[in-house]
Amino acid sequence: MQITPSILTADFADLGAELARIPSSDWIHVDVMDNHFVPNLTFGATMVQALAGATDRPIDAHLMIAEPDRHAPAYVEAGAASVTFHVEAAAAPVRLAREVRSHGGRVGMGLKPATPIEPYEDLLPELDMVLLMTVEPGFGGQTFLDLCLPKIRRTRELIDKHGVETWLQVDGGVSLETIERCAEAGADVFVAGSAVFDADDPDAMVAALRDKATEAADRT
Ligand code: DX5
Ligand code: ZN
Repeated sequence: MQITPSILTADFADLGAELARIPSSDWIHVDVMDNHFVPNLTFGATMVQALAGATDRPIDAHLMIAEPDRHAPAYVEAGAASVTFHVEAAAAPVRLAREVRSHGGRVGMGLKPATPIEPYEDLLPELDMVLLMTVEPGFGGQTFLDLCLPKIRRTRELIDKHGVETWLQVDGGVSLETIERCAEAGADVFVAGSAVFDADDPDAMVAALRDKATEAADRT
């Protein structure tokens, strides 16, 4: 059970200090948005490089960008330990996944809420992680979409059926109130933005989220 806080709701004017507030996070989730794939603009590879140099936590880069085939390898070179592209934007997801891995990164494939997992079943061995969006991508602080829970369950079944080590990440609206549902459905990596950075003690929230997810998974 891993928690990867999204810095999207952190104070952009003081990101170094924000990273220091979550020392027990497993990863740092960095939402890269290009104003094309999603209607919001954040940061690029230069910022990922700066963040990677400012923390000993590994960087989990979530690319919500057009043309990931062209741009994703640059994020591994910038120091991201994991790079997730969106399948809706990728021209050749198998080639792209192999290319990210050949650069030494873990590779994730992201799906928006309305994108089914089934057409991509055979790609699972090529992936270190599947990211299932549980809100429409673009903004932090949105309400968790319960309609995504059956897809989390089906994705867990496919991962188990193929016997692969692929991690299953959920992203969007994950909080103390929703994380148990995600863990029961089979997720094992949890992005949380506003839940962590709007908390009085962000690091205590990371621990509380991890405990809730672990308890929920143990029950199932
Ligand atoms: C949304 C991003 C998420 C988001 C999570 O497009 O991919 O990572 O920032 O933020 P919360 O946890 O506030 O929904
Ligand atoms: Zn994200």
